[in-house]
Amino acid sequence: MRIVLVGPPGAGKGTQAQVLAQTLSIPHISTGDLFRANIGQGTGLGIKAKAYMNEGRLVPDEVTIAMAKDRMLQADTAGGFLLDGFPRNLGQARVLDEFLAQRGIALDGVLDLEVPDKEVVDRIAGRRLCRNDGNHMYHVAYNPPQQDDVCDECGSGLYKRPDDAEAKVRTRLEVYHTETEPITDYYAQQDLLLTIPALGKVDEVTARAIAALEKNR
Ligand code: AP5
Ligand code: ZN
Repeated sequence: MRIVLVGPPGAGKGTQAQVLAQTLSIPHISTGDLFRANIGQGTGLGIKAKAYMNEGRLVPDEVTIAMAKDRMLQADTAGGFLLDGFPRNLGQARVLDEFLAQRGIALDGVLDLEVPDKEVVDRIAGRRLCRNDGNHMYHVAYNPPQQDDVCDECGSGLYKRPDDAEAKVRTRLEVYHTETEPITDYYAQQDLLLTIPALGKVDEVTARAIAALEKNR
């Protein structure tokens, strides 16, 4: 299956992507995670991306698209993939369509996680990530670690993302509404859009996502 996950910052894309990728046995490709890994390793790509990310703005298309294509060409994507955070504007959506069409493949669905802005701010304010593995993720109220600021899975310290400061979250939300939301209409016109309410418990949202994908088959 080839799936795109779209939704505002803090909607739970990363959380749902981890479960869905495992359930559907497809790799989870997150452009945000790829950028953060490059920043951590101090690569040229990471240095370029960092300034944009820290301001809550989109990294330029030429950098993002090349990185996403490289990742989609890796061997483990033969059975499909789950894209999280890409495409993020109409230009990226069109390039993705061309890329897939050239290979004679297409998307199976675009899951759109619907969350009000107020909930987004609340989810992001409480998010904590593991320093050792960003996939170990917590929320101070909704999914707290057993010991404050210590990862249950590996014992490493937890941290707050630099772009999670409140002023930057406001910018990220604005960018989402102006630049990313238009891709939902684009995919609705292609009959691919599967909008699901993303409020409620993590497993309830997962169940809605699976049901929407199955109905669309
Ligand atoms: P990216 O890393 O993609 O960030 P984002 O889209 O802002 O999304 P987040 O990671 O903040 O949130 P999420 O939806 O994954 O939610 P999560 O599961 O963590 O991008 C970061 C930056 O990289 C961008 O701003 C941009 O600069 C750049 N970038 C990336 N892709 C790009 C592209 N294609 N083009 C250009 N630039 C790009 O959940 C959030 C919190 O809520 C967690 O604490 C979690 O535990 C909690 N939570 C999750 N689900 C629930 C639930 N059901 N109930 C209660 N709490 C929940
Ligand atoms: Zn950990």
